Formats: sequence, C-alpha cells, structure tokens
Amino acid sequence: MNLPLDLEPQRIPQHLAIIMDGNGRWATNQGLPRIAGHRQGAKTLKEILRCCKDWGIKALTVYAFSTENWQRPLQEVNFLMRLFERFLRRELAEMYQEGVKLSFIGDLSALPPSLQTEIEHSTVKTANNQAIHFTLAINYGSRNEITRACHQIAALVEQGKLNAAAVNEQLVEQYLYTVNTSPPDLLIRTSGEMRLSNFLLWQLAYTEMYFTDIFWPDFDREELYKALLSYQQRDRRFGKVKPLLSA
Ligand code: FPP
Repeated sequence: MNLPLDLEPQRIPQHLAIIMDGNGRWATNQGLPRIAGHRQGAKTLKEILRCCKDWGIKALTVYAFSTENWQRPLQEVNFLMRLFERFLRRELAEMYQEGVKLSFIGDLSALPPSLQTEIEHSTVKTANNQAIHFTLAINYGSRNEITRACHQIAALVEQGKLNAAAVNEQLVEQYLYTVNTSPPDLLIRTSGEMRLSNFLLWQLAYTEMYFTDIFWPDFDREELYKALLSYQQRDRRFGKVKPLLSA
C-alpha cells in the first residue's frame, strides 16, 4: 500500500522504535486471558512491519521482552517464549522473501535453547536482505547493555590494549548491541504509559517520542499514519538553534 498523500516521503523516519504495550489490558477488556493479547499483538506486529516496509521506513526495532519481564507469572513467560519461536518459524520464509533483515538485541544466552536456534537461523538466513532492518529486543535492558559495554571496555584497559583517555562516545557505541545501526528517529509507545522502561536509553538521546492511548493489539496503519504525521510536524534541532532566515 502506498504512502498516504499527506505524508512527505523525504521526511519519513529512517528508523522507528516501538514499545508495544497494552496486550494484557486489551485482552482483559475483551474478557480474554492475557496471553490472547500477546497472540493478537504478534499479528499487529506483522502488519506494522509490512506497513513500515511499504512506506519506506528502513529500520524497525521493537521491544518484545525486557530483562524485567522474567518477573511475570511463569506461564506467561513460557507462552511468550513459545510465541517468539513460533513467530520466527512461521513468518521467516515470508519475511525473507520480502527482503526483511532480522536482528536481535539483548542477552540472548538466557533464552530457551530452541528459541536461540531459531534466532541464529533467522539472523543468518536474512543477513543480506536490504528492504527493511527488523530488530527484536528480547531479554533486553539498556542498563544491562551499557554495563556490559563498560565491562568490555574496562577489560581492554586492564589488559593494556586500550588507553582510558581513548574512551569516547563513538567507542562506547561499538560495544552496544546496536553497533552499526543509526539511532531511532521516532519512538512510539502504545497504551497510554509515558516512560522508557529501560529501552534504548543511550540510543534515544535525540529521538522524537509519540505516545498513544491505543493498546498495541489495536495499533494499525491508521494509528501509524497519525504517529508519522505528528513526527513530520516536529522541528528536530539536535540541541542546536535554528538558523534565522534573513529578512
Ligand atoms: C506488553 O504488554 C507486551 C509485552 C511485554 C510482550 C510483547 C510481545 C508482543 C507484542 C507479542 C508479539 C511479539 C513477537 C516478537 C512475536 P503488557 O503485557 O505489558 O500489557 P499490559 O501492560 O496491558 O499488561
């Protein structure tokens, strides 16, 4: 489907990040168990990925499971792990065909081995695709990511391989999970919550934010269109002042 006419193609965000929130409340409102919300959320994700590709967004990063989400009831955690695995198994062929390059960020070593296998397989299979870069954050937490980078850099200094004075922002970025990806231009969080919940804290430094009350399972093309319209009305200055027009 083509880009809606009132969106400017040259001002589409290159990289969109989404905190997909509200699955549980969506399900409760319908009188369904929470897991039904996650199942519907997976369908929404597939639709939104396709829409991003259609509209020329080059990268989509979504928060699927945080380092804190292990504290949910075991049954829900297990369901989510199986849902991620099934999603990869069922959708990989189509995503591959459509040119989706899949990446994963987070501490993947703590995930069930069968999910790790699907992650490895889908990453390798789609590595050369170029239509859209789709990143799933699973067992991801920013504080964990930054601390891990600190450990790696400190080890290099300790071994005498790196001078402490050479540690700068560019170097730190090399040790984040998101190495070699540009930061998000726009962050969307659904369900009315207005916080970052430990998601991409470093990378979101200059990202525009959009919050909507819509629960993730109800987020559709129309809602994405509204978010992009809002984004296109923003004035991104990256900490600078706007040059004054001469009279
Ligand atoms: C937040 O809603 C959602 C999650 C913690 C899980 C995100 C997972 C999906 C959207 C499923 C599809 C993902 C993939 C990768 C197939 P919540 O449960 O916190 O909702 P609540 O705040 O209403 O309880």
